Formats: sequence, C-alpha cells, structure tokens
Amino acid sequence: GRSLDLAGQKVVVSAGGTREALDPVRFIGNRSSGLQGYALARTAAARGAEVTLIAANVALPDPAGATVVRVESTAELREAVLAASGHADVVVMAAAVADFRPAARHDAKIKKTDGEPEPIHLTKNPDILAELGERRRAAVPGTSPKVIVGFAAETHDVLANGQAKLARKGCDLLVVNEVGEHLAFGTPDNAATVLVAGGEPIEVPRGPKEDVADAVWDAVAARLS
Ligand code: C5P
Repeated sequence: GRSLDLAGQKVVVSAGGTREALDPVRFIGNRSSGLQGYALARTAAARGAEVTLIAANVALPDPAGATVVRVESTAELREAVLAASGHADVVVMAAAVADFRPAARHDAKIKKTDGEPEPIHLTKNPDILAELGERRRAAVPGTSPKVIVGFAAETHDVLANGQAKLARKGCDLLVVNEVGEHLAFGTPDNAATVLVAGGEPIEVPRGPKEDVADAVWDAVAARLS
C-alpha cells in the first residue's frame, strides 16, 4: 500500500509561480495558484517523506509536516531548489517558472511619461529543471537526486510534445497537464498524463489534485525501489 512508502526519502517540491520585478511595485507574473504543488507536498508528507516545499508567491497556509521556503523571483527559486536538491532523493518542479524577466529592474517606480511608454526589454531565465538534469548527467557533486520530476502544460500533441520535453530536460517523469476546459490553473481539479522515461505513460483521470499527486508519488516510489 501507499502508507509511509516514502519514509526516509528527502523530497523537494516547488510550487506556485515566479514573479519578475519591473520596479519596486510592479512585476511580470503568472496565474499559478500553487494548489498542485501543495497537494504534492501534503501527500508526500502523509506518505512519510521529509518534505521541503519551495513556494513562489502562494497564498495558501503551510502544509502540515513540510519545511516551507518562500521565494519570489526565478533567481531566488533557482537558488533555493539547487541548495535543497544537494541532499534530496527526489525533486519535483511543479512551479510555473517565468521564461523571461525584464532585462533591467528600475530602482524607482517607473513614471508615467507624456510621450510613448518605454518598451520593456526581456531576457531569458535559466531553466532550473533542465539544469538539474544536466548537473545529474554531468555528475556535479552535491546535485544528484535519484528522481527528477517536471511538469508541463500542453494543449496539443500532448504525448509527442511531452516525450520530447522529458528527453530535452533530462527528467525521469514529466507530468503533462491537459490545459483548457477550465482545468489546471486555480481549480481544485486536474487531469494529467505522467510520462515515464523508458516506460509506459500513466493516465490520471480528472479528479482532485491529490489524485495527480498520489499518482506522481506512486511512479516516484516505483522508480526508487
Ligand atoms: O519548458 P516548460 O516551461 O514547458 O517546462 C515546464 C517544466 O520546467 C516545469 O517543471 C517547470 O517547473 C520547469 N521550468 C524550470 N525553469 C524554467 C522553466 C520551466 O524549472 N525556466
């Protein structure tokens, strides 16, 4: 059974969505609620894992039994994930990470001008999940989680796009959310396909985010044993 099958495992879960500051009061962000990541943290703790939850801008109470680290930007998330993953068995990247950030952060609030507004220049953020996979592949000391799990939201060719992403990012499992039809963002329900490196995909029918979380931990436990 599932009860305490993750006992002794150190797991890191990222949740929520990163924000990239434009100035002291404004940011570019996304609508991730953190519900799926929090469900992953809660269910892992219930199954006996030692959980570090890295929460990016989540307005939810701390789940029981998890150590919570709060971050805002992608740079902060990256630091926290790399630090925690140094002594983790499993890392699950459920956070929605901003692909880009403003190239410059203004020290003072940007003022309305009389003429045209200034364009916002963007620069690429590091891909934390890909970096974890790369570090493991290169056997960088202190970063070798046994199981690395990514998330992806795909609208079409879910399996083909998901398999390509799984390989590109060097992860073991990739949870593909079927977005649209009022699923995923901010809702208590989710439906997903768990893609398994070198294995058969696992379908998780529409249901509470705990169902997706338990299916992920089932696949993780199978890989750990
Ligand atoms: O490439 P895409 O954004 O679809 O990948 C999603 C997965 O990669 C998620 O697990 C997300 O947490 C992770 N990611 C990341 N760093 C980024 C972008 C995405 O770790 N800069």
